[in-house]
Amino acid sequence: MLSHLALTCVSLLVTFAAVRWFIRDSYKLDGFSQKHVFITGCDSGFGNLLAKQLDRKGFKVIAACLSEKGAADLAAAASPRLKTLLLNVTDSAGIRSAVDFVSREVGERGLWGLVNNAGRGTPIGPTEWMQLEDFMTVLDVNLLGLIDVTLQFLPLLKKARGRVVNVASIAGRAAMAGGGYCLSKYGVEAFSDSLRLNMLPFGIKVSIIEPGYFKTNILYNDLIEANLKKLWAPLPQDVKDAYGATYIEDFLRMFDNSLGKLCSPDIAKVTRCMEHALTARHPRTRYGVGWDAKLFWIPLSYLPSFMTDFIFNSFTPLPKAGRKP
Ligand SMILES: NC(=O)c1ccc[n+]([C@@H]2O[C@H](COP(=O)([O-])OP(=O)(O)OC[C@H]3O[C@@H](n4cnc5c(N)ncnc54)[C@H](OP(=O)(O)O)[C@@H]3O)[C@@H](O)[C@H]2O)c1
Ligand SMILES: *[C@@H]1O[C@H](CO)[C@@H](O)[C@H](O)[C@H]1NC(C)=O
Repeated sequence: MLSHLALTCVSLLVTFAAVRWFIRDSYKLDGFSQKHVFITGCDSGFGNLLAKQLDRKGFKVIAACLSEKGAADLAAAASPRLKTLLLNVTDSAGIRSAVDFVSREVGERGLWGLVNNAGRGTPIGPTEWMQLEDFMTVLDVNLLGLIDVTLQFLPLLKKARGRVVNVASIAGRAAMAGGGYCLSKYGVEAFSDSLRLNMLPFGIKVSIIEPGYFKTNILYNDLIEANLKKLWAPLPQDVKDAYGATYIEDFLRMFDNSLGKLCSPDIAKVTRCMEHALTARHPRTRYGVGWDAKLFWIPLSYLPSFMTDFIFNSFTPLPKAGRKP
């Protein structure tokens, strides 16, 4: 009787808390037509879709692209409200020019949203195949570029008591591959956590997007293959022998078979979370996006290491020398 009562109370409390959370989560701000958002890496993928989506909502979007073609194509697909500029996030002076441009656009209102989306995936592969520069090429863009952009835009963001949206990844929760990518995304998680704490007194809110696998250029198999071949070519013969001539094939098959199957083509799931972070009264701190992130990668990241090692090893190809006969 008593336990029945306790159980009812607990389930009522849980239901109440869940309903309250959903209502709080759904409160929206307004006045988007007066708000500016700056997004990096808008040539393709999430950034490109987000720029168009926010443009349709009435936001004043300033979209940074890496290539002239990317910028021209995006401008042609959006309203005249949307402005594009060219930015390579590893170029500090380029970021300074972007700040000048945005500063003229936003005037006294300041910048409402900064979306740090630009990123690269390769080189990715066995750690033993890498040189220090291979780590640096990824860290320079995904982590140091993101930090540089954020630091330089902070004064404009403070003016608007705005929002920072940083694109990390489930690779910032569990390191499943060698190379700079997972390192860079762990770094984005840590940088965003400290930024959130430090900027709270100034009214700036920081959200982290953690997508699972989505079909974009970054996971383009040919790109990964070309990169693996470039890493392979200069390896000493004994290392090549230890991995075996079919290792690259096996590695790519793993991408196709396990990760390819997890890959969602619906990248709007990611941009909806970015939009929530920019438009909700109470943006979330972390957005795990995609069922693979929510049900597999993020829960997995809480398991003890011996279990995650076992799971990753079961779908990563083994070097020839490490295979059981
Ligand atoms: N797709 C996924 O499964 C997934 C999962 C988790 C996280 N993410 C993250 O999501 C973000 C967007 O990636 P995406 O999947 O949309 O792939 P994407 O289509 O390749 O988009 C990445 C964008 O960043 C640009 N970029 C690359 N290097 C740059 C640099 N040095 N300066 C400025 N821009 C640069 C790319 O330009 P180019 O096209 O000209 O190279 C491209 O526009 C990345 O941070 C990525 O790590 C993706
Ligand atoms: C971005 O800049 C770095 C050096 O600042 C350069 O090595 C790289 O090639 C540039 N990327 C593109 C795509 O222009």
